[in-house]
Amino acid sequence: MSEKTPHIHPVAHELLQRSDKESLLQQKALCIWMTGLSGSGKSTIAKGLEKKFHEQGILSAVLDGDNVRTGINSNLGFLEEDRIENIRRIAEVTKLFLDCGVVTINCFVSPTKNIRTLAKKIIGAKDFHEVHVQASFDECAKRDVKGLYEKALRGEIKNFTGLDAPFEAPEHPALEIKTAEQSIGESVETIYNFFIDKIKGSKTEN
Ligand code: ADX
Repeated sequence: MSEKTPHIHPVAHELLQRSDKESLLQQKALCIWMTGLSGSGKSTIAKGLEKKFHEQGILSAVLDGDNVRTGINSNLGFLEEDRIENIRRIAEVTKLFLDCGVVTINCFVSPTKNIRTLAKKIIGAKDFHEVHVQASFDECAKRDVKGLYEKALRGEIKNFTGLDAPFEAPEHPALEIKTAEQSIGESVETIYNFFIDKIKGSKTEN
């Protein structure tokens, strides 16, 4: 409880528990945390993965940087302290989804080890599964899906990840997906196959 909230009385323990929701859905919740440069393929893979989960009867939700930054995080920019707050909030939101038994597919540049450690701490190490969606800066600049690299290289966007703001690759991700070397469909399959047993494998456990 923070200093600003001394008179708060959470009721979470009085509500139905995550295990009740997971039993209802017949799945185990977990967070697939995708990190990587802008344009590396996180959102595209997430779209395919969400569809695949849906077809297989698994309830999932995509939490995406570009989306949340138009809503709950629309007051945040790209300085380090804003990125930290962006990830802190989304990690708390992720916990709410996990408590409802929903698998979350998170697509955030989340550029530093520090930031991802914060997310892992909030979400919990057991539920936090880091996936590095890897493509080089040059490859992402070549794709330039949103036209941001061209602007950043012209100096029109400051603190651009990989250019004048750091990206620290994860050292021990659960998975590394090299999007220059495999198709979107293959990337989706790789991630799906890696997580499916964790989600469905032990559905009778509580
Ligand atoms: S994070 O660093 O705080 O995790 P987040 O994933 O929410 O970033 O948002 C990244 C998206 O914002 C990128 O995919 C890109 O479309 C856009 N963007 C705008 N400005 C920047 C910037 N300076 N650095 C990185 N991404 C940016």
